[in-house]
Amino acid sequence: MKIEVLTLFPAMFSAVMSESMMWKAREHGLLDFHVHDIRDHAGNKQRKVDDSPYGGGGGMILKADVLTRAIEAVKPADQTPVILLSPQGRVLTHQVAAELSRQPHLILVCGHYEGVDERARELAISDEISIGDYVLTGGELAALVFIDAVVRLIPGVLGAEGAQHRDSHANSLLEGPHYTRPSAFRGLSVPDVLTSGHHAEVDRWRRRQALKRTWERRPDLLETAPLSEQDRAYLAQLQAEAQD
Ligand code: ADE
Repeated sequence: MKIEVLTLFPAMFSAVMSESMMWKAREHGLLDFHVHDIRDHAGNKQRKVDDSPYGGGGGMILKADVLTRAIEAVKPADQTPVILLSPQGRVLTHQVAAELSRQPHLILVCGHYEGVDERARELAISDEISIGDYVLTGGELAALVFIDAVVRLIPGVLGAEGAQHRDSHANSLLEGPHYTRPSAFRGLSVPDVLTSGHHAEVDRWRRRQALKRTWERRPDLLETAPLSEQDRAYLAQLQAEAQD
């Protein structure tokens, strides 16, 4: 996958994109990552990219001509999504990340200041993503969150085992607890089933723990999660126990 980012703060991407999984994805040729400075398209000596809003009010607006030029300089003449990171976008979920992880090429645009001129949106932006219902000072951190969530879903990035299928949210449930050595720590021990070597029992336990954690912390997810008869029976049992 190729990801190109348009930003006023290119340096914000170097550390994150040069470490851990994002770096491995690049090293293994699974991610071709580029950052472009919107200011290179300012078209004036002062490299000014923003201006005050028509109609008054505070803040500065990213100019339509500058942003449109910056996007057109990288966008091929095809259906490549051009995604603006903004608190007004559709909210990033596992499903949205999975959908966009199948694209061969994404262009991410980081807004700043009070916002971007609406005409740049109309002319050059095809999608808008928010990483949650709060406002950041700019789209850069949101773009990094988005990139991490999407890139780890590209086949091969997390290794052959594909642990992403078991992730919290991948099957609409939260993940249950995990343990590693030592088997006893400060009086707390690992559940026996995990050391039993009985794989079917381990799977059943994990499924139930995922259901229990989701029921306790995010019951809203259970409304749309694909659940078996056994899952439903277990949830009914939890419900009954809570009422005792
Ligand atoms: N820019 C500012 N706030 C944002 C948010 N919540 N998500 C994405 N981009 C943003």
